[in-house]
Amino acid sequence: MKISIIGTGYVGLVTGICLASKGHKVICIDKKQEVVDKINAMVSPIYEPGLEELLIKAVSSGNLIATTNLEHSVLNSEVSIIAVGTPANNDEIDLSYIEKSVWEIGSVLKNKNCYHVVCVKSTVVPATSDTIVKNLLEKASDKMIGEIGLAMNPEFLREGKAVEDFMYPDRIVIGAHDHRSFETMKNIYKDFFNAPILHVNLRTAEMIKYTSNALLATLISFSNEIAALCEKTKNIDVKEVMEYVTLDKRFNPRIDKQLVNPGMNNYLKAGCGFGGSCFPKDVKALISYSKGLGYQPQIIDATIKINKEQPLRLIKRLEEKLISLKGKKIVILGLAFKPDTDDIRESPAIAIINSLLEKGALIHGVDPIAIESMKKVIPEDKKSVSYTPDYVTALKSADVAILVTSWPEFAAIPPEAFNKLMKTPIVLDGRRVLDKKAFEAAGVVYMGIGLA
Ligand code: UDX
Repeated sequence: MKISIIGTGYVGLVTGICLASKGHKVICIDKKQEVVDKINAMVSPIYEPGLEELLIKAVSSGNLIATTNLEHSVLNSEVSIIAVGTPANNDEIDLSYIEKSVWEIGSVLKNKNCYHVVCVKSTVVPATSDTIVKNLLEKASDKMIGEIGLAMNPEFLREGKAVEDFMYPDRIVIGAHDHRSFETMKNIYKDFFNAPILHVNLRTAEMIKYTSNALLATLISFSNEIAALCEKTKNIDVKEVMEYVTLDKRFNPRIDKQLVNPGMNNYLKAGCGFGGSCFPKDVKALISYSKGLGYQPQIIDATIKINKEQPLRLIKRLEEKLISLKGKKIVILGLAFKPDTDDIRESPAIAIINSLLEKGALIHGVDPIAIESMKKVIPEDKKSVSYTPDYVTALKSADVAILVTSWPEFAAIPPEAFNKLMKTPIVLDGRRVLDKKAFEAAGVVYMGIGLA
């Protein structure tokens, strides 16, 4: 099929490249000439494992091109997928980029006679597509929805695993205004390894996206609450508790259907709290949406509250151990909100560093790729904050090391190195990726989230 993707940020780019690699003819549209040039030169504007390899194949096979020309692109395609940003604006979402794109597409469709589906992929609160988007599109095109197709197709892509998540989806959700819109969208996904394609109405699709993120975020906050209880009770390890609880097939029906090997659930782990561009923003937007409807949410409110407190609980534990953090050299292992990304948006590392600075600690941040991003939020300063990609330099004569991001390279540091390099070898494992026994055998004081 011929597909236009409007907005080549994270979601648009991954969608465009993956659909092109499935044989569709894709045109990626972006306002920024430098982004368009990069795509056409087969250089990925973002870091995402596996993406550049697919980009090279897609461009060289002629299945993908990028352009700033929306009109030409929409005129020459059957579907326009809107993947522009919906940034947070006082806990609500800002729809201005969506509105602008819809208006521009609608204006082009005024002069187009063959059937065309406009699909919203950006995350929007329920009832956005069948009110704001629909009205704007009808006004700009001078046509009724029905003549033009309208769909909402949310994404469930994790940073660092976006290509895998796109190519092997658990399910494909298509909210459609009518049957014809659905059938057109379904064609795009006909070659996706038998993933169920679910036909729902537009606002249900929007709600599924928010509910998915809110549920996952809530389960993480729930794990973190259980972790707090485990820390107060000797001989219970939250890691074992959550792993074994989630083996229950009611949490993972695929185990029941033998679709995957029953095994440990790799999600829902207690840690320093969730960050990133989606969970915090989407849960807050859902809270705001709910309040707007006159319903005061309680569970998702608590999800955010626990998440805000979680990094501070780590600091409290350290204070209980060390009495004062003033003048202590503290190494932060990991600045990114999760491994395999340089993204520090809402990273727990930010709250941890800020709280430690307030208490007079000296910070040495370590990260393989996120240092430059972090410097923009918490700049280096000679007295109290420095960053290095090299853990050896950072750990030298440190008082405490806190593991905040589960980069594999941190888990690979030999426990003996902490003992040898640090002044007082105390390690606080905020992601439970280090081997407690090995650390204790190496003479390191090990403290872990969810462990007394
Ligand atoms: C998330 C959703 O997973 C994805 O479906 C949606 O489309 C966008 O938001 P992402 O933000 O990339 O993706 O990362 P994810 O891997 O879900 O992690 C989010 C945060 O939760 C990270 O800070 C991570 O460290 C934390 N987390 C995740 C935990 O604390 N414990 C876990 O077990 C998993």
